[in-house]
Amino acid sequence: MITLSSEITYLKRSVMRDLLALATAPGIVSLAGGLPATEFLPVAEYTQCLNTVLQREGARMLQYSPQHPALRGWIAEYMRGRGVDCEPDHVFITNGAQQGLSILSRLLLDPGAPVVIEAATFTGIQQVTAGRGGRVITIPTNLTNGADTEALEAAFKEHRPRFAVIIPDFHNPLGVSLSIKKRRRIADLAAKYEIPVIEDDPYSPLRFEGDPLPPIKAFDHSGHVFYIGSFSKMLAPSVRLGWIVAPPALIPKITVIRESIDLESSILTQSAVYEFLSQGLLTPHLERLNRVNHDRRDVLLDALKTNFGSAAQWTIPEGGLFVWLTLPDCVDTWSAFQKALDNHVIYIPGAAFAHDGGYCNAMRLNFSSASPENIRLAVERLASVFVPLMAVESN
Ligand SMILES: Cc1ncc(COP(=O)(O)O)c(C=O)c1O
Repeated sequence: MITLSSEITYLKRSVMRDLLALATAPGIVSLAGGLPATEFLPVAEYTQCLNTVLQREGARMLQYSPQHPALRGWIAEYMRGRGVDCEPDHVFITNGAQQGLSILSRLLLDPGAPVVIEAATFTGIQQVTAGRGGRVITIPTNLTNGADTEALEAAFKEHRPRFAVIIPDFHNPLGVSLSIKKRRRIADLAAKYEIPVIEDDPYSPLRFEGDPLPPIKAFDHSGHVFYIGSFSKMLAPSVRLGWIVAPPALIPKITVIRESIDLESSILTQSAVYEFLSQGLLTPHLERLNRVNHDRRDVLLDALKTNFGSAAQWTIPEGGLFVWLTLPDCVDTWSAFQKALDNHVIYIPGAAFAHDGGYCNAMRLNFSSASPENIRLAVERLASVFVPLMAVESN
């Protein structure tokens, strides 16, 4: 018999992966994914960048290599533009935000130690906390202004967790953004209790409405906030590049953990992404992407209003990819999933995001990857499944 590690017993298979696999069946309209619209990924621009760097730099692009210094410099400047006191030696390049989460968890968390996450959160955050054997404490998230800072302070006082993970902008799955007051408060709490806060922020560049907000890290004067960014949503998921902003003294330790996983990020990809950025291609790409996302969000909100009216509530995100739909308490979005599938529409049931259970009457709806016609069709199909279930309760 093969004895497996304790980590693999803690790690749960992502139900999302199973649900997303269903999206490929013919005729299914999916609001389940978390992807940018494939048809708006910058194929021509990125091809040109890859060719340019390969032709210019030659075989060096196919070699092992240290982290790309100019890309670290670009990220540091980008972070300074968002109000963060950041130099290139604060920046560590990863293969995406998920790897950043995994590295920081290995840096800070031991099995059995307390750790704080939001009660409804991205499954990848559950994987690097509960999935590493952490003793998870959850805090609620307000659907208009983000994570509950009173609950965070109470958890810091009572449990002295190793860290807390918070999603600041266009939350996955809730769509909400933290108010500026709460950002400041979270940085203050991290400093006061000397407990690290990991700010997991892949979505802030996807703002299409309202004013940009500084990250929590912008209010961090004690070095207790670790910021994670990603090129997945702002450029393309398959570049698999992200970054951590951390105190320079910890970068050597982060480097050792990283080397134990996969040595390094591809120099070819880092160079092509840097080429994309330095040619000024990011701004037009984001403008186009965010315009499309804005239109699609409006279509989704309009369809929800037409088909659900006042019988349901939903968040109104100013960016990102997701709307969180809350139905009356009696409706269980998990057990109705098969019925929705039979009606050729899928979503992610709220419970998939809840470490402690709950959110059974909610679902995450993605507005970026289906066409406007399909978004309308999907909501009509959802209503044909759920409105009768809601009527049963009110009778
Ligand atoms: C909140 C959050 N963090 C991290 C990630 C992982 O992103 P990446 O593709 O950069 O690894 C995602 C992906 O959907 C996410 O929603």
